Amino acid sequence: MLLSDFVKDSAAALVELYPSPEARSIVSVLCEERLGVKSYAHIVEPGLVIPENEAERLCSDVKRLSAGEPVQYVLGFSWFRGRKFKVNPSVLIPRPETEQLVGEALAFLRTPGHGGKVLDLCTGSGCIAWSIALEMPGTAVTAVDISEPALDLARSQFSDLPPGVVAPRFLCSDVLAGCPGLEGDFDLVLGNPPYVLEKEKALMRANVLEHEPGLALFVPDDDPLRFCSAIASIARRVMSSSGEGIVEINETLGSESAGVFRDAGYEKTEILEDFLSRNRFVRFSSSLRHARESSLEG
Ligand SMILES: C[S@@+](CC[C@H](N)C(=O)[O-])C[C@H]1O[C@@H](n2cnc3c(N)ncnc32)[C@H](O)[C@@H]1O
Repeated sequence: MLLSDFVKDSAAALVELYPSPEARSIVSVLCEERLGVKSYAHIVEPGLVIPENEAERLCSDVKRLSAGEPVQYVLGFSWFRGRKFKVNPSVLIPRPETEQLVGEALAFLRTPGHGGKVLDLCTGSGCIAWSIALEMPGTAVTAVDISEPALDLARSQFSDLPPGVVAPRFLCSDVLAGCPGLEGDFDLVLGNPPYVLEKEKALMRANVLEHEPGLALFVPDDDPLRFCSAIASIARRVMSSSGEGIVEINETLGSESAGVFRDAGYEKTEILEDFLSRNRFVRFSSSLRHARESSLEG
């Protein structure tokens, strides 16, 4: 089979599911990964033939893509902060806005005087926990999820770690039950919990709804802030007095989410926007941290 024919036919097969530029880009990613060719190879080398064994695998990939499976599950990985993370249907495919949460977390950890004990609640693939462990050697990360299959995948992400990098500790626990038994004095509490309302399903694409785990996505319409409340109360117990928390939130519930942390006693709460200017994170800390910062400034 000619590569140019494969690209044309596959992109045509996917336009029913994706806008045309996205369909083409998915096919490019597939060819780059499976064949090691550049995205423009089918144009500059119109006579390029796909080896028979590769053609068979590519056709089965396109069948899965045409059934709506996200390309990341078909390939078995997703990029996050420049690293390949293994993904499978037991974990959410990491989203670009979550990379920003890691950026904010690293800015905190790199500030002189801030400690390096981090808690990642609702870790899924472990993309937040591992990114921090790898980008900030010496940091001790504890990561929690309720799903054992997700934790198995998270634990398996990386081996042969660079010197000084400590693998996160992955624990199975229920955030909504307050993570019983979890103890610590964490400098930074992070979380990207489920926050999509059931009623928002109508706005979502079928490939997300039918293939990504509902457990990772949805909260009931009548209790949309249940994870914010649970995280606020867990942080009260396990976050150090000079610590900080950052939680990813539903963009339509910015002030309500910040209100949950304020009501839980955090004097400083701040809504952070993502790169599309959507309310995307709440940062919270206590007055003790405030007082310490003011005395350092003074
Ligand atoms: C939005 S995903 C986030 C995954 C990952 N942190 C990321 O940013 O890609 C939410 C995660 O919360 C986990 N989860 C759902 N309910 C939970 C609960 N009650 N306790 C702990 N984890 C839970 C899901 O299994 C899922 O992995």
